[in-house]
Amino acid sequence: MNWFTRRIWASLLYICLAVQAQAADPATITVDAAISGPRVNPRMYGIFLEEINHGVDGGLYAELVRNRGFEDSRAPEGYLQVGKRWVDAGGFDSGFAEFGYTTDSIPFWTLIEDGGASGSVRLQTSGGVTDESSYCARLEATDLAKGRVALANQGYFGIGVNQGESYSLSLYARGGDFRGPLLVRLEDSSGEACSNEVSFSEIGDGWTQLRGTLTATKMDPKARLVVAMGAKGRCWLDFVSLFPKQTWHDRPNGLRPDIAEMIADLKPGFVRFPGGCVVEGATVETAYDWKLTVGPVEKRRERWGPWNYRRTQGMGLYEYLQFCEDLKADPLWVGFCGQTCIFREREHVPMAEMGPVRDNFLDLVEYANGPIDSHWGAMRAEAGHPSPFGLQQIEIGNENQGREFFERYQFVHEALKVKYPDLHYFADLSWTSPESMRGEAFDVEDRHYYNSPRWFTSRFHEYDRRDRAEPPLYLGELAVTSGEAGLLRGNLLAALAEGVFLMGCERNADTVRMVSYAPLLANIDGRTALTGAPPPWHAMIYFDGTRVFGTVSYYLWKLFGANRPDEMVEVRTEYPTATPPVIAGQIGVGTWDATTEFKDIRVEQGGKTVWDGNALDGEQGWDRDGGEWTADDGVYRQNRRGFGLSYFGDPRWSNYTLSLKARKSSGNEGFLIVFGRAGSEKYWWNLGGWGNQQHAIELNQTAVGQPVPGTIESDRWYDVKIELAGNRIRCYLDGVLVHDVTSTPPERFFVTAGRDEADGSLVLKAINASAESQAATLHIRGLERIAPTANVTVLTSAKPTDNNSLRRPQAVVPAETQIDGVGPEFAHEFPPNSLTILRLKPLPN
Ligand code: AHR
Repeated sequence: MNWFTRRIWASLLYICLAVQAQAADPATITVDAAISGPRVNPRMYGIFLEEINHGVDGGLYAELVRNRGFEDSRAPEGYLQVGKRWVDAGGFDSGFAEFGYTTDSIPFWTLIEDGGASGSVRLQTSGGVTDESSYCARLEATDLAKGRVALANQGYFGIGVNQGESYSLSLYARGGDFRGPLLVRLEDSSGEACSNEVSFSEIGDGWTQLRGTLTATKMDPKARLVVAMGAKGRCWLDFVSLFPKQTWHDRPNGLRPDIAEMIADLKPGFVRFPGGCVVEGATVETAYDWKLTVGPVEKRRERWGPWNYRRTQGMGLYEYLQFCEDLKADPLWVGFCGQTCIFREREHVPMAEMGPVRDNFLDLVEYANGPIDSHWGAMRAEAGHPSPFGLQQIEIGNENQGREFFERYQFVHEALKVKYPDLHYFADLSWTSPESMRGEAFDVEDRHYYNSPRWFTSRFHEYDRRDRAEPPLYLGELAVTSGEAGLLRGNLLAALAEGVFLMGCERNADTVRMVSYAPLLANIDGRTALTGAPPPWHAMIYFDGTRVFGTVSYYLWKLFGANRPDEMVEVRTEYPTATPPVIAGQIGVGTWDATTEFKDIRVEQGGKTVWDGNALDGEQGWDRDGGEWTADDGVYRQNRRGFGLSYFGDPRWSNYTLSLKARKSSGNEGFLIVFGRAGSEKYWWNLGGWGNQQHAIELNQTAVGQPVPGTIESDRWYDVKIELAGNRIRCYLDGVLVHDVTSTPPERFFVTAGRDEADGSLVLKAINASAESQAATLHIRGLERIAPTANVTVLTSAKPTDNNSLRRPQAVVPAETQIDGVGPEFAHEFPPNSLTILRLKPLPN
């Protein structure tokens, strides 16, 4: 019996025992170290680093001045102005207003006229220090008799400074009738100085770069940088920059040490960069073009991004590659494939114009790896890195879709493969089925999962049956993002659910080769709203101007990286299961990506109508979550294309039949019919989901039973009926039975094990995802002699909703202890809501 057959057999055995084991209390864990499983990629755990949530600009990239080049007044490229909004061709908002951008003033800078002084500031859209940074500011002091005229920069949500630390100041200035002095210092919010002041005289007629050092006299997370005119007159300012003197690894134009260090502590095996949706752009003009991100920073053309702000491009291709090298991580470049983000209004570069898109990939490889006498290799050498960076992994596109994607993927891939046959090519099939990509060559398949705790917890076996003839997987974006209150900043429950999924990946490490969390970083004040509306994106590492902390997910992923086995071994776990629950809860209607009408909504129990939607009285009694709802003439409508749900009824309703009529008016999908909604748990029947390709029952977005192929047509009334009997669900569409399934209780105790070849330890991971502690007897086979003392690391907390924060950065962190009495058979108790890692050491013979 091979490993794979044995594992299937072991799962079946587990299910049988689980069913019979109602009375048995403790679990039995049998580890057989002599039965080897798959080898695990030493670089399995990596990071995905995208410019989102001001994670890079306003975060990792150490620049402290916001809008340093005065380019933030530019309109977002490729968008159209409609009233005060900037929208793409399909009407999707650029989010220009979210962080306070305007085109007619100078965002993030303010004029100061203190003590009766008077002056003015004006944006100039030409004449800047370079053609690429052509905008600049004209500052004028007309009366300084009693005070000062200055320009103040608020930084990214405040400039964070630490007492005693020095900061490198650089700015470009030119005078008209003004020769100086220009006085520059840091101030707190009340206008008190919090650094020394540097004075620059002899401002010339042409642009001069002025440099100085500011040393902070106190800690302030929200200081501002003030540039004051010491005499009357007019001067022009551009590219005003302030960096901590100490950057990570002392790199010029470098990174914030505390954030970079948090990342380095994860010891990532690879870095996927620079996106994400950032790569795709929302318009062709805002798609990521790495050629704008290399060379002197003043000559890098800034670009609007899909996460509602303009990128400085300060952390450009060179800096990303240098970061990978400093981390000792393999770079994985993601490039724009010619299709913009499918969640905005997807645009395409016409096939006849794809040459430059393809060349950007080819030239990028030359920049990273080419000889120094090649065009792009020479630029890398000039930037300070004559030796190649050793880029081996290229992803063509991110979350793209459809025939247009395949054509573009193929066009780029063919050219790359001819010139660089040995590189590894990744294709993101998150929104595309592998079948439809058949024939398009790729070495690794990328998939992204954002979902609820239950979704992740129910995927321990996800890859057990994956066809090993398929290309290996890279799960490039993973995170719990929904489900229970409080998850948007992560918590213990979210981390453990991700942990269960990761354990499933380790068990299937022969097909799952790489994994990374997403997004990695967020400035706590700079989190971007999701497309359309709040809530904003979560992250693994949060920070403000002076502080940084990791969520519980950070610590869990770090533990997984540090305790990655080299080879898995067989484990069998048996524990008692709970009685299947009766499905009970409210009903509801809604949409994922559509506008839809609902009518004749009726709930019957035992043949009696308990609620009749024909009595719809306006919108009363409905509990809404997103969307734009109206009700008239007995028809209830969700009018805004996108996500929106509306619930009704008694959470105690059970054993009922819900019937209604639904008609989709517009959008990419069908509709959602909710049942069994109680607290944070809900079922829905998703009709025309996954791009209008299939119908499925889901519990908290986790499929219950098998999805079936199916589409929903627009402008047609459908009859929908859902019958609940205990935990059995039957769903009918136009009178035809589509699903007949029973909902079973989720697994709650998960164990894996593997060998760490560095020290010979047997590494056992266990997640107890329930609220009760789990006693267990462990049987360790296949190890000659085991040391009686073992190291144990536990990640847990009093409540599953506990998390870390700026104020309590270490509230939930792993605790390490030792246990005695370890042997071929020993008992151990696994705390409620916990990850436990046991490292069992063999004794020398
Ligand atoms: O991680 C945030 C975003 O989620 C990424 O940009 C995108 O790839 C995904 O949709």
